[in-house]
Amino acid sequence: MSQSVKQMFGRIACRYDLLNRLLSARRDVGWRSKALALIDGRPERVLDLACGTFDLALQALAAGKAASVHGCDFSHPMLVAGRGKIAGRGISATVGDALALPYADGSFDAAMCAYGWRNFDDPAAALRELRRVLVPDGQLLILEFFRPSTLWTRTFYATFGRIAPLAGALIARDAGAYRYLHDSVQGFLDPDQARDLLTAQGFTGLRASTCFGGVSHALWARRSP
Ligand SMILES: C[S@@+](CC[C@H](N)C(=O)[O-])C[C@H]1O[C@@H](n2cnc3c(N)ncnc32)[C@H](O)[C@@H]1O
Repeated sequence: MSQSVKQMFGRIACRYDLLNRLLSARRDVGWRSKALALIDGRPERVLDLACGTFDLALQALAAGKAASVHGCDFSHPMLVAGRGKIAGRGISATVGDALALPYADGSFDAAMCAYGWRNFDDPAAALRELRRVLVPDGQLLILEFFRPSTLWTRTFYATFGRIAPLAGALIARDAGAYRYLHDSVQGFLDPDQARDLLTAQGFTGLRASTCFGGVSHALWARRSP
C-alpha cells in the first residue's frame, strides 16, 4: 500500500495546502497550535515525521516549541511543494520512510507527526522507530484523525466522506486521493486503541487534547527510559 500512498501524495502535492485550508475551513492551523501546547519547554532537536509541506514544523518554531526542526517524509514532491515556505527558517529535511527512519538511535529530543500515522503500513512499527530515534524521556506528539467513536464524529465523517472527494476532484483533479483521506480514517485505530498502542510500544505519561468535538486528536507522551 505504501507505494500507492506515496504516489497519491506526489500527485496532490501542489494543491495539498490549498485543499487542507478549504476542507478544514482553516481550522487545521488552530488544531496544530492547540496540539503544540502539549509539548513541554523548547526541545532542541525536533523531528517532524511525515512533515509534508512543513506546516507543523513552521508552527512549532513560531510557537517556541522547538529550537530546530528536521522534517522527514517519503514523498519528495511534498517536500518540494513546501520548500518555499521554509527558506531561511532553519528547517532541514530528508526523504525517508517512517518504517525505517534514516537516523541513528537517540537523534532527537522530541518527535511529532501530524496526520501521517494512519498512512503508515504498520502503525506499531512506526512507533518503534520513533522510540528508537528519541532520547530516553524524549517527547512524542501525534496529531491524527482517528476512527470515529462518537455520534458526532460518525456524523461528521459521513458528511465529510461525501464532500471531500468532490472538492478533491474540483481542485486537485483527484477524487480518489480525497476518498482515500476519508477511508483511511475509517480504517484506522480509534482513540482508545491509539492510546493502548502508544503504551504497549513504550511511551508513558500520556496526555491528550481534542478539537472540533473529537474530529482531530492530539496525543502526547514521553519515551520510557
Ligand atoms: C496528510 S499528510 C500530512 C502532512 C503534514 N504533516 C501536515 O500536517 O500537513 C501525510 C503525509 O505523510 C507522508 N507519509 C505517508 N506515509 C509515509 C511513510 N511511510 N513515511 C514517511 N512519510 C509518509 C505523506 O507523504 C504525506 O506528506
